[in-house]
Amino acid sequence: MDTEIIDIIRHYGSDILKSTKMLEEKKYMQHGNVSVYEHSIKVCYISIRIAKTFGLNIDMKALVRGALLHDFFLYDWHIYDESHKLHAFSHARCAYENAKKEFDLGKIEKDIILKHMFPVNITPPKYKESVIVSIADKISATHETIFESDHELLRLCIV
Ligand SMILES: [Fe+2]
Ligand SMILES: [Fe+2]
Repeated sequence: MDTEIIDIIRHYGSDILKSTKMLEEKKYMQHGNVSVYEHSIKVCYISIRIAKTFGLNIDMKALVRGALLHDFFLYDWHIYDESHKLHAFSHARCAYENAKKEFDLGKIEKDIILKHMFPVNITPPKYKESVIVSIADKISATHETIFESDHELLRLCIV
């Protein structure tokens, strides 16, 4: 575990991670035994790792906050409901609508959340940060489907 990345997540994202609405994500499973809350932290961690590995000049605050909020849709997508029957196509918009009510979002955070499902949602990401999160989301989803939950990462990120 890269503690420098953990510090970055905590520095820019603690208010999100501790917020009542974000904590609701712990109730909703994303893949396997991984909650949406944990998935969001993993995507954030992987996004920062990608940026650091390639030495990319990015807006770190926007990257962290957009990654943490990218799946802020706040329902269990495994339980059928008319309102989210097209979850794969509609949840990015839903996450953005929820997130903007709770947090101040800049143009990069907005783009990260709305475009993270590219190419399922056909509009491509506009910023480097959005491309990174979209890639990190797919890496994380694949990893979560194969492996178990990573409690250590969760424990380290929560202050
Ligand atoms: Fe998503
Ligand atoms: Fe996701």
